[in-house]
Amino acid sequence: MSALFDVSGKVACVTGASSGLGRAAASLLAASGARVIGVARRAEELAAWRADTQGETACVSANLADRQGLKAVAHAVCTPFGPVDILINAAGINTRQHADEVTEDGWDVTLDLNLAAPFFLAQSLVTGMKAKGWGRIINFASLQSQRAFPNGIAYGASKGGVEQMTRAMAEAWSSHGITANAVAPGFFRTELTGPVFADPALAQRNADQTCVGRNGEPADLDGPLMFFCSPASDYVTGQTLFVDGGFTAK
Ligand SMILES: NC(=O)c1ccc[n+]([C@@H]2O[C@H](COP(=O)([O-])OP(=O)(O)OC[C@H]3O[C@@H](n4cnc5c(N)ncnc54)[C@H](OP(=O)(O)O)[C@@H]3O)[C@@H](O)[C@H]2O)c1
Repeated sequence: MSALFDVSGKVACVTGASSGLGRAAASLLAASGARVIGVARRAEELAAWRADTQGETACVSANLADRQGLKAVAHAVCTPFGPVDILINAAGINTRQHADEVTEDGWDVTLDLNLAAPFFLAQSLVTGMKAKGWGRIINFASLQSQRAFPNGIAYGASKGGVEQMTRAMAEAWSSHGITANAVAPGFFRTELTGPVFADPALAQRNADQTCVGRNGEPADLDGPLMFFCSPASDYVTGQTLFVDGGFTAK
């Protein structure tokens, strides 16, 4: 492993580690020698992730949409291995409510989980990163950070916020050696995108919209994530990288 991309010995917190892209990111970091704490609600799925994953891991079961609990989550996350070096905010939901039908609860849970939790977790965890003079925050943006899709108003608002919040985190904390960047995946088959992939014609239309000609596979995010988590990206901050096979390029 080149020192450029070395994360061995780093302490990494990955939210959404019970499923999909968060789980893949948590496994990638553990396999790369980081000590990884996975966070999500489903304790049994987190246990299954740990059982399938080589390396040093721990988990915290918590509802990240409960803003009042986030300080306690941040404390619990720092308990197994000490202060966190790398925070990956991958937990997210899409309630897929049409603009005419959006409920207050649907709006609140989307904004609380997708936007408020990444911020308040980061706010707590940067204290430890500042003490080390080094840290990494990687947020999960989306095609919907920049594009409108059907039934996506709450999700799109949250993900548009994630892109701007990433710039603002960079402005606030990069002088302490803490970079903040985001990945914006195209279409990847996960629980979240179940409704999209359940419609083969829609999934194919999305694949055809890319330059590469296919939808994403979890491993497509490995390189971008290792770049953002490691010293390779020391001078890159406030950026959102679209890992979308060129979806947004055409
Ligand atoms: N898949 C894609 O094509 C795609 C595209 C663009 C962006 N993204 C973004 O990528 C990230 C990961 O999504 P995914 O596709 O991997 O979805 P996923 O498989 O549905 O995973 C979502 C994760 O979020 C966790 N989560 C949901 N509600 C939570 C809550 N209240 N508290 C704590 N954790 C909660 C889930 O765990 P529990 O249910 O166990 O709590 C799960 O681990 C999301 O931010 C999503 O917006 C995905």
